[in-house]
Amino acid sequence: MTSIALTLCLCVAIFTPQCMGGRRNNVISYIMNHVDELQQRQDAVTPSFGPICEGRNYQIYLDPLNWSAAKLKCEINGGMLAKIRSQDIHVAIVDYIKEAKLTSTIVNDAGKGLWIGLGDKDEEGRYMWVDGEELDLNECSQYQGWAADEPNNNDKKDDNGQDCVQLWKMRQFDWDDGYCNDSKGYICEYAACDPSCVACL
Ligand SMILES: *[C@@H]1O[C@H](CO)[C@@H](O)[C@H](O)[C@H]1NC(C)=O
Ligand SMILES: *[C@@H]1O[C@H](CO)[C@@H](O)[C@H](O)[C@H]1NC(C)=O
Repeated sequence: MTSIALTLCLCVAIFTPQCMGGRRNNVISYIMNHVDELQQRQDAVTPSFGPICEGRNYQIYLDPLNWSAAKLKCEINGGMLAKIRSQDIHVAIVDYIKEAKLTSTIVNDAGKGLWIGLGDKDEEGRYMWVDGEELDLNECSQYQGWAADEPNNNDKKDDNGQDCVQLWKMRQFDWDDGYCNDSKGYICEYAACDPSCVACL
C-alpha cells in the first residue's frame, strides 16, 4: 500500500513539471516541424498547438457553428471536439487563447465562448464526452472546470435547456452549459502523432 502511494506520488512529481515546463518549447517545435500540415488546415484560425500533455494537440476555430456542426467539423478534420482531461490542459488552452489575443475576437456578449466536446443532450444531467466517457458531476477524481453555479440548464431561451458545454468568455473560459443550437467558435483536438509515429513530441 505504502509503496503504491509512493510510486504514484513520484510519478506525479516527475511528470507535472515536465508537462508544464515543456509546453512552450513543444508548441514552437511542433509548429516548425508541421508547417505543411498546418497550411492544409486552412480554415483554422490558429495553428494547432501542443502537445500540452498526453500527446494531444489542440486547434481553435472561430467560424461560428452550432455544437453538432462543430463536432462534425472536428471529425471531418480527423480529430474530435476537445476533451479537457485535466487542469493542465484547461489552463494551457486558456493561456493560449490569451497569448494569441483571441479574446477580442470572441465577442463578449453573454453566451459567447468556444464549444468543447462535452454535453448532456441524451439524458439531462448525464454529461458525456464525445469519446463516450461519462463525466460524473460528483466525481472529484475527474477534472471539472465548471464556472460557479454551472451547469444550470438555463431554459430562458429554449425549452430544451442548455445541453452543450462551452469555455465561457464571461467566466474566464471556465465551463458552462450553453444552448446547443447557438453558433460559436470551437476547439478541436488531434493526436500529436500519426499512427506510424514511434515517439510523440
Ligand atoms: C446545426 O447546423 C447545421 C449546419 O448549418 C444545421 O444543418 C443543423 O440543423 C443545425 N442544428 C441545430 C440543432 O441547430
Ligand atoms: C434553438 O432551438 C429552439 C427550439 O428547440 C428555438 O426556440 C431557438 O430559437 C433555437 N435557437 C437558434 C439560435 O436557432
